[in-house]
Amino acid sequence: DKGKYAHYTLKEINDQRLTVANAARQDEAMMEKFCKVLSEAQSVYITGSGTSYHSALIMKHMLARYAKIRAETVMSSEAQDGLVGLDEGSALVAFSQSGETADVLESVKIAKKQGARILGIVNVTTSSLARASDAFLSVNCGPEIGVAATKSFTGQLALVYNIVARLSPAGAFVAGEKAEFVKAVDKVIATSQSAIEKMAGKMEQVNDIYLLGRSTHYPIALEGALKLKELAYVHAEGVAAGELKHGPLALMEKNTLVILLNPRDATYNDSLSNAHEIKARGASVIGISDAGSEVYDHWIEIPHMAEEAFYPIVEVIPLQMLAYYLALAKNADPDYPRNLAKSVTVK
Ligand code: M6R
Repeated sequence: DKGKYAHYTLKEINDQRLTVANAARQDEAMMEKFCKVLSEAQSVYITGSGTSYHSALIMKHMLARYAKIRAETVMSSEAQDGLVGLDEGSALVAFSQSGETADVLESVKIAKKQGARILGIVNVTTSSLARASDAFLSVNCGPEIGVAATKSFTGQLALVYNIVARLSPAGAFVAGEKAEFVKAVDKVIATSQSAIEKMAGKMEQVNDIYLLGRSTHYPIALEGALKLKELAYVHAEGVAAGELKHGPLALMEKNTLVILLNPRDATYNDSLSNAHEIKARGASVIGISDAGSEVYDHWIEIPHMAEEAFYPIVEVIPLQMLAYYLALAKNADPDYPRNLAKSVTVK
């Protein structure tokens, strides 16, 4: 039921105000088992498709940074070449909202054949992935109807935070139901929706958007680009900000539009320099940050986070809203984008 909302996608974006807290509510025995397998594994691989792959990328960063666990990410559709050399000491973490994505199930099969343990992260607990897993956890965000993954993505990130908090030395990283990001997600939805709707209304003619971010913000740049392609049919590209000078800078000219993910964390100064380089070529910059700057043509303000690892879950929300409202401005149906299915059960 869409309730008071015009579309499921808008409802699900708004649902995130509550659903991001749900990932902390796990069956204790299952959480224990999941984390034990993960921490005891000699080699860790993480996989997923589309948005779920972006969660895999964030998990890799988080595991390395806080739990000192090295993991390799493999796109599920590339598992044939990516999942090689696994053995009984390996663990594969597989992300899938539906738990039915053919590429993900295939990667599980490839890993299992080599003796690896499977750790599923699903939203549908009766799914094939849940059944194929040695242990699985649910993001618990309720049915997601819109083809675009929104609340399942932030649910995956919230679950990653909770898993990493468990695997990290005591006090090194703290998550849980009352973590700082829960309030921040609520706040960003409440405060930025109408400004983003207005901004999207003026972007109808935009055909290309570049999204830039470093470190954990790079997967969010990829995710924002995916939302813009899928919902608003805009050519959008996620670029690792540090790669700008290695090529994409050549594309910056008058009328180029760049969205920069630039919260006040360790990446802030380098990314701000990129903003100046882009501006100097005449392009426009929309900055998503908790700090304003004269270099931004538009500033989308997000709450400041004491724990910088929480920025990705907060900064993705303005991008989801932008894709949604841009779809409306272009008369596209945000719930059912052309050519796409909610669950991709064929290879
Ligand atoms: O159900 P899954 O998480 O396995 O789905 C994976 C992708 O098909 C999915 O995330 C897709 O990229 C979304 N439509 C993106 O919004």
